[in-house]
Amino acid sequence: MKPILTTEHLSMRPFAESDLDWLVSHRSDGDVSRYLGGAELQTPSFVLKRLRFYMDCFERLGFSMCLTTWNETGRAIGVSGLQPLEKTGHIEVGYSFEKEFWGKGLATEAAAAWLEFGFSKAGLERIVAVAEPANIGSTRVMEKLGMTFEKTSLSYGLQVVRYAVSKETFQKRNAETNPA
Ligand SMILES: CC(C)(COP(=O)(O)OP(=O)(O)OC[C@H]1O[C@@H](n2cnc3c(N)ncnc32)[C@H](O)[C@@H]1OP(=O)(O)O)[C@@H](O)C(=O)NCCC(=O)NCCS
Repeated sequence: MKPILTTEHLSMRPFAESDLDWLVSHRSDGDVSRYLGGAELQTPSFVLKRLRFYMDCFERLGFSMCLTTWNETGRAIGVSGLQPLEKTGHIEVGYSFEKEFWGKGLATEAAAAWLEFGFSKAGLERIVAVAEPANIGSTRVMEKLGMTFEKTSLSYGLQVVRYAVSKETFQKRNAETNPA
């Protein structure tokens, strides 16, 4: 399947059911799923529901959480993308990477590309991100992208902080940091 988004180091393509084993294995790492509900939640049937949600989301909206591969080798190393949040329907940017790829700026690289995609190609006016407050790495990614704290709320049964950025703010900030 062709990528729908490519960055310097990463390519993102929609999920297929054949990715189930990879996604189960990715989420079964306790460090990866610490803030995704915990490793014990990540049974094949639970993960299959998430996978089908991602596929349905892509079908309906033309974007979704995507399998994210390392350009240098083609290896699947994470998940990143845009999806509607349960209940509110706000579109969130999300990311998770295999541990050995943490600390290389990849979540920031992926999320920045998804914000750009959301605002310039998918017609979105506002994108949010949510994380448990203790997930400092995730909230730092949000801050680096110019997203600002909005409120604390409940999402997927977890108490989370919600950050957001508007199209106008994101594009203005990009124009300031990358003048033509
Ligand atoms: C959160 C996560 C996506 C961050 O990915 P990453 O590729 O390591 O992030 P980046 O390298 O782009 O780092 C972005 C910033 O966060 C900081 N950061 C990353 N992890 C951190 C941590 N555990 N503690 C403190 N700061 C951290 C980095 O130093 C960097 O800030 P800086 O440029 O000011 O130094 C990664 O840890 C992960 O996959 N975690 C498991 C899944 C998850 O929790 N996803 C988010 C759910 S809301």
